[in-house]
Amino acid sequence: MTRPTCLQSLGSILALATVLCIPVAVWPASLPPQATIAPEPTSAVHALASGNPLRVALGEALFSDVRLSGDGRRSCASCHDLATNGASGVKRDLAPDGQPLPLNTNTVFNAALSYRLDWAGQERSLEEQARVSMTRLDVMALTPEAAAERLGAHPGMARRFREAYGRNPDAAALLDALASFERTLVTPGSRFDRWLEGDAGALTPEELDGYRRFKAAGCMSCHQGVNVGGNLFQVHGLFRTVGTPEPRMLRVPSLRNVAATPPYFHDGSAATLEEAVHVMAVAQLGRDLPNPQVGQITAFLRSLTGTYRDRPVSAPLP
Ligand code: HEC
Ligand code: HEC
Repeated sequence: MTRPTCLQSLGSILALATVLCIPVAVWPASLPPQATIAPEPTSAVHALASGNPLRVALGEALFSDVRLSGDGRRSCASCHDLATNGASGVKRDLAPDGQPLPLNTNTVFNAALSYRLDWAGQERSLEEQARVSMTRLDVMALTPEAAAERLGAHPGMARRFREAYGRNPDAAALLDALASFERTLVTPGSRFDRWLEGDAGALTPEELDGYRRFKAAGCMSCHQGVNVGGNLFQVHGLFRTVGTPEPRMLRVPSLRNVAATPPYFHDGSAATLEEAVHVMAVAQLGRDLPNPQVGQITAFLRSLTGTYRDRPVSAPLP
């Protein structure tokens, strides 16, 4: 390797200086609009690339098919109401034996955008999650294998599987169809998303203050990414546990559509959004937020409600 001469070094320093200086010299007086907006730690929800329509339609039919449950009396839709919030309105839904489930029901809306699923984030894909939902004795209580066999006995269903998958019903096709449908359950169109995409009037000044406060208070260090959550693990209660202590490590939940999904937390222990925000500030940030600030933050959170099939996501009637 040859050592650069003094002149060569001077030359490269000058070249570097020129490179550095030129952009300064020609920097426009006003920045282009997009450069004036600080990058946000989240982004708008958009429909995902649509899967094979036959598989999506089959998954939609299966989602509300009671033949997928052991006792033939419940379907996924029994706890995940797609006409309202993609979940239910109770603290904890019931197992077939009438006992409350250990945890509150998550919404299926936007679940496809979270990197792990369920409160404790133990599943990595919708297919895996669907297998768990089916097999759990307190949820559907039927293995996908047994459900596929059952469906195969119905000529109409068997035909739909053959059309969509080229074979008779089996567990893999069943789980794939459910997951294909679930990937369509995203809710674009919230006012916050319209604001993120440049419609400055989409949020009221109070909601915008709430968003700034949400970031400044540190909420967004955990609730971030496209789902405003759903992409990190955290213990619940860095400063104080939230409700029942177990499970201790949770996937930070998404706050999309949060205004429509009371009650809150893994055990459904907070009835209102205001209460949930209060508890969060104490539990995760060690701060007692004054009511006006809680009001601003909840105003912001209410702007995160999107639409499913052109209808706003809504809380189920009590
Ligand atoms: C009896 C009520 C009930 C039924 C029926 C039910 N679920 Fe759930 N679902 C829940 C509960 C409770 C959770 C949270 C489970 C946990 O964290 O342990 C959940 C979580 C989920 C999630 C995770 C969402 C997220 O953001 O992580 C998905 C996806 C889901 N269910 C899909 C389904 C599918 C598909 C079916 C039908 C095969 C189904 N569920 C049937 C109650 C139910
Ligand atoms: C250290 C991480 C962390 C921080 C900081 C944090 N959260 Fe959370 N948030 C969580 C976790 C984990 C949960 C789930 C808690 C549970 O269910 O017990 C949660 C749950 C919630 C819920 C309930 C969601 C639901 O569907 O039940 C709301 C609302 C919420 N947070 C808002 C906030 C607000 C507002 C702030 C700021 C004041 C905040 N969070 C700060 C991690 C955090």
